[in-house]
Amino acid sequence: MSGAQETHGPPQLDNGAISVILGEATARLIDIIARRAQVEELALFLVGGVVRDLLLRRPKLDLDFVLESDAIGFAEALAADFGGALQRHKPFVTATWALDASVAEKLSLPSAGLPDHIDFARARSETYAYPTALPEVAPSSIERDLWRRDFSLNTLALQLSPAQAAGTLLDVCGGLKDLEQRRIRVLHERSFVDDPTRILRALRFARRYGFEIEPETAEWIREALPMLGRITGIRLGSEFELILQEDKAADIILGLQDMGALERIHSAFRVSPELEQRLSMTLDGMPRWAEIATADLALRWSLLLADISERDAHAVCRRLDMTQALTRSVAAGAKLVADAGRLSETGSRPSEIARLLDGAPEVSLLAAWIALSHRPEARRNIDDYCGIWRHQRPSINGVDLKRMGIPPGPRYKYLLERLRSARIDGDIDTPEEEARFLQALITECN
Ligand code: CTP
Repeated sequence: MSGAQETHGPPQLDNGAISVILGEATARLIDIIARRAQVEELALFLVGGVVRDLLLRRPKLDLDFVLESDAIGFAEALAADFGGALQRHKPFVTATWALDASVAEKLSLPSAGLPDHIDFARARSETYAYPTALPEVAPSSIERDLWRRDFSLNTLALQLSPAQAAGTLLDVCGGLKDLEQRRIRVLHERSFVDDPTRILRALRFARRYGFEIEPETAEWIREALPMLGRITGIRLGSEFELILQEDKAADIILGLQDMGALERIHSAFRVSPELEQRLSMTLDGMPRWAEIATADLALRWSLLLADISERDAHAVCRRLDMTQALTRSVAAGAKLVADAGRLSETGSRPSEIARLLDGAPEVSLLAAWIALSHRPEARRNIDDYCGIWRHQRPSINGVDLKRMGIPPGPRYKYLLERLRSARIDGDIDTPEEEARFLQALITECN
């Protein structure tokens, strides 16, 4: 396989170019790590996404190093010299080195421009015991490590050590050509069967970079779609979280829907073409009462699943193994959007609207507000609820009722709710009016 290895003249990824793209601090950090490996004459490579993005002149602070020797030991030595926590993942022969401010100080680098962690891995091959299984790994050469990867554009490696090979760009799977021709291509026919999450990754990279999915790869995606049904919710959920953080999130998800991927994940998983407009909501377009960032993940999930019934939202959340809190937010948002008719009724009393909205998490209220852009009346009601009605409480409380000699029980809830409704509806305003209203209620109950 090493016969396939090629060295390309241009494009050059020397320290100067890296410094321009990733910043001087990160370029110097890479250099320090490279020199350490050179002293020990170890084969060290920068691989994957960072090399791809360097070639595309896009900054990325996610550094992945691969060694053809003990990566955990190499990371341990760095952490011993410069400090910082080290997390070891022995089954995958990898280690993550956390770079806190003290590490930056020891390295004499400004911590502002540095990544917060770096990953080191032993070059490895992977085999899948059965389709969709997590891979079993074994130490191997850099070439085999590159061949186990998802897309050709993610297989590029920049050699940093030993010194005589430093600066060599390894292109064993034709990644450079695909980068030039702007296409996403898998390395072999079984790639999506082994790991169907790559279907989601293919769309994510294609839309992010404006690349085409190469025809044979697209055909293999179509054939592997049923495999999506066998992937665990956790793995799918993580992929969707990555998608939701992309600028082109809506485009990616609508693309997945068009190719039939969403329905393979769950039959009720459907998104609206309006997703684009919803997810591109900026701070200026947000209501005044909202204190949630547009990038908030729970908000983005709620906007994604806003067009299915509450029950279906529950089912999709369960399929994606979401936490209870997230499921609650998503399902409450879907319920409010499904209730658009009632939320828009012009004749409704404010207290009736409040009853529809009471108990919904803040993020669900905001998701419904954003999703109901074509329902100005519903939006106004949500605005009034969030800005005014939900803050209105009667001055009389349970203690007052007890003092008045009313025996505690379900009646308390009824009386206090009626008082609150009357207050929200503007039927009572002053404490005297409240007292009179309560008296009338008590008489009515007896
Ligand atoms: N990889 C893979 N198959 C996957 C996930 C990852 O082959 N299902 C490989 C790819 O070579 C990828 C590398 O592992 O480049 C690191 O994965 P990740 O950090 O998820 O991807 P990046 O390429 O860094 O992408 P991003 O820019 O989205 O962070």
